[in-house]
Amino acid sequence: MTKDMTTPIDQAALWNGRAGATWVAKQALLDDLFAPIADALADAAQAAGARHLLDIGCGTGATTLAAARRIGEGGTALGIDISAPMIARANERGAAEGLPVRFIEGDAQSQAFTSAAFDMAISRFGVMFFSDSVAAFANIRQAMTLGGLLHAIAWRSPRDNGFMTAAERAAQPLLPAMPARDPDAPGQFAFADKDRVLGLLWDAGWSDIDIETVDFACAFPASALADYVASMGPLGLFLAQVDDAERARIVDRVLPAFDRYIDGDAVRFTAACWSIRARA
Ligand SMILES: C[S@@+](CC[C@H](N)C(=O)[O-])C[C@H]1O[C@@H](n2cnc3c(N)ncnc32)[C@H](O)[C@@H]1O
Repeated sequence: MTKDMTTPIDQAALWNGRAGATWVAKQALLDDLFAPIADALADAAQAAGARHLLDIGCGTGATTLAAARRIGEGGTALGIDISAPMIARANERGAAEGLPVRFIEGDAQSQAFTSAAFDMAISRFGVMFFSDSVAAFANIRQAMTLGGLLHAIAWRSPRDNGFMTAAERAAQPLLPAMPARDPDAPGQFAFADKDRVLGLLWDAGWSDIDIETVDFACAFPASALADYVASMGPLGLFLAQVDDAERARIVDRVLPAFDRYIDGDAVRFTAACWSIRARA
């Protein structure tokens, strides 16, 4: 019941291709947008007294760096990500800050981590993409010290996250060829079902599993909305294949779906998430 279904999307190709390029290009915007979640994970690392931290699916490194700033003298942080361009950006940022961080390109599902190397693992939206989540969480567990803490943030359902699906819902009638999301496949909303996530962690051998709702208030400048809609998510992936005029036409038609999120010169929405904690 807890086994993942096979996905038609090659996650390594996606994150080394268009999705990775977009996350690198939009790194500053995405860092600001999701800063409340980076802060929450850094607070959690500090509160737990983490010394050796692993960041799963670290992307361009925002959460790894935020946590590393809090773990103090003698602490270390390692970010792992399957995306070469995102790891390259993370490495540039780590070098610029001079923090005790390292970033490696690798698949957290199969990476040969040193056993018992980490006392805490964190992730911001980086654990929903495994082809076999039980194998991935078991692999990560063996890299943890006994009692080591996992703290991951993942999206709740698309219905709870209207902002995240507004663009594709508005575009669907205009773009019938745009592929719909597969709710059972690895992807942004793969952890929407709390009981399923509980089962995955249990099957992977984790203990003291605790999954709670958590909402984050997110915002970014309204001036960036059209570019955000044109490049992020399933619509952004689809629009990468059309010419500039067609892209602008579709974005114009989709933008009114975001009116309810505009507050003066800002776009504001709630990120409806799970706070997932467990012990190795
Ligand atoms: C939504 S992005 C989040 C990135 C980053 N955690 C952040 O919040 O900015 C998901 C990340 O998970 C990474 N990812 C997907 N599958 C992975 C895997 N099997 N092992 C390591 N990273 C993976 C992607 O490359 C991508 O960087």
